[in-house]
This record gives sequence, structure tokens and C-alpha cells, in this order.
Amino acid sequence: MASLSIRSVSKAFGANKVLDDVSAEIGTGAFVTLLGPSGCGKTTLLRIIAGLVEADGGEILMDDTNVTRLEARRRGIGMVFQSHALFPHMTVLENVGFGLRMRGVPRQERDRLASEALALVHLRDFGRRYPQQLSGGQQQRVAIARAVVFKPRVLLMDEPFGALDRKLREALQIELRRMTRELGITTIFVTHDQGEALILSDRIALMQAGRLVQIGTPAEVFRQPQTRFAAEFMGVENFFAAQILGSDADGTALACGAARLLSRVQAKLPAGGGIAVGIRAEDIALSDDAHPVNGTSGEVRDVVYHGNTWTISVSSAMGEIVCTTQAGAAANPPANPGETVQLAWRPDAVLVIPDP
Ligand SMILES: Nc1ncnc2c1ncn2[C@@H]1O[C@H](COP(=O)(O)OP(=O)(O)OP(=O)(O)O)[C@@H](O)[C@H]1O
Ligand SMILES: [Mg+2]
Repeated sequence: MASLSIRSVSKAFGANKVLDDVSAEIGTGAFVTLLGPSGCGKTTLLRIIAGLVEADGGEILMDDTNVTRLEARRRGIGMVFQSHALFPHMTVLENVGFGLRMRGVPRQERDRLASEALALVHLRDFGRRYPQQLSGGQQQRVAIARAVVFKPRVLLMDEPFGALDRKLREALQIELRRMTRELGITTIFVTHDQGEALILSDRIALMQAGRLVQIGTPAEVFRQPQTRFAAEFMGVENFFAAQILGSDADGTALACGAARLLSRVQAKLPAGGGIAVGIRAEDIALSDDAHPVNGTSGEVRDVVYHGNTWTISVSSAMGEIVCTTQAGAAANPPANPGETVQLAWRPDAVLVIPDP
């Protein structure tokens, strides 16, 4: 277990600047997720931490020791990749014990530690099998056991559940959370799935085009996205340009054209300033009444059934608005195209986004 400091790390491949001055402090035992779209530099950052790729600039520290120039195998880091890459000619137990064998650990001790690691991922009885006799999810659990068997100081995981179906992925997420907390192991987990990041993480580090744009607890990143990109990536569908009418500790009053909005968030900008406002589709409800504040009316354009929910697109004076309502047992849509509807939302649904 170690703390990890990433200090001003930069990397280019030719003219392609892949990481631009990335810094983060990761406490001992923390579970941090690097979240971002494809190509934003997640794997490259992970490989630089592991010592598999050399940064152009910046430093990596483990427990305040500079490891920037230390060989990968001396860093005490365990890694799990998207494809598990187990050795097909070795049993599960031998696969898990492989790293210990390379470190000269004698056979008996190796098998004991490998069995322990297999028990952690609920595969104690699978040691004598070969990888091809396991399901994809079981193979990935073997890969996790192999990465933690030598008690690494830091565990790095690169989209380890990407190839698995949703149900299995969710089961392994819960298991991984339990295991890393039990072992107290410092973990950096890469994903482009916001749901996975929210479930697993103590903190989420959101990346965009080689830069770290926001780092915070899942609730902070979900409820207080600081940029339009962060908000979109965390699933906010509706954005409006707004003007600040006034802001204090209780919240912010905003104008969006003729509409009046009230947010619980204090905007750190003076009255008269322009700002972006975001509202999640599931936070907007159909209403029987007109709401002078935090509401608008409009014409229904489109209604789509998703099983649990309906998605309704409304053309309003504030612009296009998407709202999601629970479907329940009713088979009838809550509104029909062409109909005029009232929409309403609560002040805590109004996200103030400082950087549009
Ligand atoms: N060895 C390399 N040589 C040249 N370019 C590379 C190399 N490795 C990565 N890149 C480029 O660096 C950028 C970031 O790649 P990286 O693999 O870090 O992204 P990622 O965030 O992990 O994406 P994904 O979610 O698709 O895995 C991409 O534009 C990629 O093409
Ligand atoms: Mg990647």
C-alpha cells in the first residue's frame, strides 16, 4: 500500500500531444477511477505510472519516493488489462503463482499464496483447471488474483470488465470494491463507463483530451460538474444559456429568456454574468400546473418507450427539453406528440456550470 503522486506528467507521440500537464494526489488505500472518452489518454497515463511508458516530462512518486526512472518490475505494481492474457498451458493456480515464481518464491509458499488470492475472488476450487475451462468472467477474476497475489503497493486496472456482459460486470464491480477495501490496496481503475466509475470509486478523475478536468467524489462529479464536457459525460442532457440575476449562500436566481430559474448552487460570479445551466432529464417532470419559477410549457415533439421509463422531447420557449418519466405498470404514454404540456423541476436539479 502506498500513496501515489502524479506531478505535471506530459507525453506526446510524435506531434500528437496525448497527456498535457496531468497532476493528481492519490492517498494510501484510495480507489480512484480515471474516467474519459476513448483516446483521451487513460491507458497512456496508467502505463506511465506502471513504468511501461516513459513520460516526456513530470514525475511519479510512490510514498514520496520518486520512481520516475525506476524499472516497472521494481515498482511493486499489480496490473490487470482489458484482455486477461492468462497462460493457456498453465493451470489457474500456476497462472496466479507465476509472478511469485519469477520472484523466486518456493513452490509450497507460492501455492499457498495463490490459493489465498483465488479465495479472495471466490475461485478457491478452480486452481487445477486450465484457463480455457473457465468463463470470461472467471478468467478475469483469475487475472485479478494474479495481480494482487504478491501484495502490490498499487493496483492498476485498465477497463478490466469491458468485454463482459452487464450482469457479470456488475457482480464483479461489487466484488472488486469489497476486495480492494478489504486489502486496503491503492487502486487506479480506468473506464469510460460513468456508471462503473460511480459505483466503484472513492474519487473520480475526469479526463478530456489529455487533461484532467475535474477530480472529486462520485457525488461531487455527478452533482457539481464544473464544465459542459463533465456535465455531458455524467449524463446531463439539457443545457441552457442563462444570466445571473443574483446569488447568495442559499442559491442563485437565473434568467433564461423569459423563464426564471432558481438553483441551490451558489454561482461564484456577479449578477449580470452569463453562465450555463444543466438539468438532467430524470429531474424534469410533467406537471398539471404552470410554474412561474423552475418550469416552462411547450409542445410535445416525440415520445419514446424504454421499458422502465418514457423519454419525452418538448419544444419550449427555453429551447428543446428532454425529460424522462417512470413508466410504472401503465402502458399508455404520459403525453402525446402535438400536446401542450407543463414541465417543472426542483431547485436542486438546476446545475450551475461555471465553464460552458
Ligand atoms: N504507442 C503509441 N504510439 C502512438 N500513438 C499512441 C500510442 N499509444 C497511444 N497513442 C495515441 O495516444 C492517444 C491516447 O491513447 P490511450 O490509449 O491512452 O487512450 P485511452 O484513453 O486509453 O482510450 P481507450 O478508451 O480507447 O482505451 C490516442 O490518440 C492514441 O492513438
Ligand atoms: Mg485505453
